[in-house]
Amino acid sequence: MALPHAPASAPLAPTDEGEGGVRIQLSDLRRTFPGGLTVLEGLELEVAAGSFVALLGPSGCGKSTLLRLVAGLDRPDGGTLTFSPPLERTRGERAPIAYVFQDAHLLPWRSVLDNAALPLELAGVPGPERRAAARAVLEQVGLGDATARYPAELSGGMRMRVSLARALVTRPRLLLLDEPFAALDELSRSRLDEQLRALWRELGMTVLFVTHSIAEATWLAERVVVLSRRPARVVLDRTLELPRERVATLRTEAAFARESRLLHEALERGEAL
Ligand SMILES: Nc1ncnc2c1ncn2[C@@H]1O[C@H](COP(=O)(O)OP(=O)(O)OP(=O)(O)O)[C@@H](O)[C@H]1O
Ligand SMILES: [Mg+2]
Repeated sequence: MALPHAPASAPLAPTDEGEGGVRIQLSDLRRTFPGGLTVLEGLELEVAAGSFVALLGPSGCGKSTLLRLVAGLDRPDGGTLTFSPPLERTRGERAPIAYVFQDAHLLPWRSVLDNAALPLELAGVPGPERRAAARAVLEQVGLGDATARYPAELSGGMRMRVSLARALVTRPRLLLLDEPFAALDELSRSRLDEQLRALWRELGMTVLFVTHSIAEATWLAERVVVLSRRPARVVLDRTLELPRERVATLRTEAAFARESRLLHEALERGEAL
């Protein structure tokens, strides 16, 4: 769900050039849970402002832990986590961070519109303004006709769209997604991937996307970071050699297969470490 760090008073609109995303720098990051389980140790990662990075890694390696640290939902035990520009300086214009979980986590008693507007409501944005912003973003995720419906009346894919809209309504500079479309059928997932990539191109935010799907990472991201099993280390950090315009048919092309294979091999190396 989106974190309403700051009010977003304007409806979703293209961002000013170069102002879209935040740069993230993780240095020597460590997280040891009470009980002694070290999940992250000596992790180094830099994410350029406005880039789209996918994180792949074996189950339990620490991907969600990493995302939670970046989101500020958890604290590291060592190392540094730096945002540039600093998150507090982005207050007042756009939310610094929004987070999308694997489950949509919608409030069943609220309409689609009121679910999408929730972060703005929590931030104190007046009713007409927040509803206009929510309507605009629901339009962008293809739910313009469903604003008056309730979560129980939606398909799984539609619920995830609402969840995505709720994250985007704050116009975040950094969007964190933790296996958001994993529970969906292949076709819905591809469509949502396509919408997400289009929104990223339009809004210019930084995106960190955790997935277990090599194909999804390859199609979506500009850069893929493959992590080893626990404690997570970077096994491969690859800027994909694929066109910036990602069309649906890319999935059947040779370049796509080549990139996917590299990621697959890295995952295998990471499992074996
Ligand atoms: N709050 C916590 N306390 C103790 N252990 C935790 C906590 N959160 C996560 N862990 C453990 O840390 C390890 C990494 O968990 P994490 O959820 O980050 O993995 P993941 O890479 O996201 O896995 P998956 O791909 O299955 O979602 C796991 O072994 C998990 O059980
Ligand atoms: Mg996880």
